[in-house]
Amino acid sequence: MEQVLFEGKINGEKISVKISPNMRLVDFLRDTLGLTGTKEGCGEGECGACTVIVDGQTVNSCLLLAMQVAGKEVLTIEGVSKEGELSPIQQAFIDQGAVQCGYCTPGMILSAQVLLKENKSPSRYEIARALSGNVCRCTGYEKIIDAVADAAQRLQEAEGERV
Ligand code: FES
Ligand code: FES
Repeated sequence: MEQVLFEGKINGEKISVKISPNMRLVDFLRDTLGLTGTKEGCGEGECGACTVIVDGQTVNSCLLLAMQVAGKEVLTIEGVSKEGELSPIQQAFIDQGAVQCGYCTPGMILSAQVLLKENKSPSRYEIARALSGNVCRCTGYEKIIDAVADAAQRLQEAEGERV
């Protein structure tokens, strides 16, 4: 199959590369760009392990073709920390013991990031609902919800310090 030119922005960096037009976004990220923080679980839109953010919204990268995000801004887990410093959400996951095998964690953190952008002080129910597309086989979810609630508080405190 003839290759096509992908042009887009991944983690703030302009990317221009020839790819197969039928390459899935998850394969493009992992295999072409080496961004292996994005995981593949089910491959059919059920588990959320492959979650990335496209133009501010979470998507399942196993269900999209890479060419569908051409010209858009894609954020993967590799783009979440700044200058080697973990984001408040990442740090809260560690501090609350919300990471076990870690397979679901990148997707969980990206879903939490979109939630906390839209809702700065979510209830536990709202957190659970926002993460309902992300499956975790290890933690039983309680610690993940603790971590997102903790991150919300940290972000609000940080905001308060800036004002
Ligand atoms: Fe994409 Fe499961 S691998 S939703
Ligand atoms: Fe193992 Fe969530 S920490 S799947």
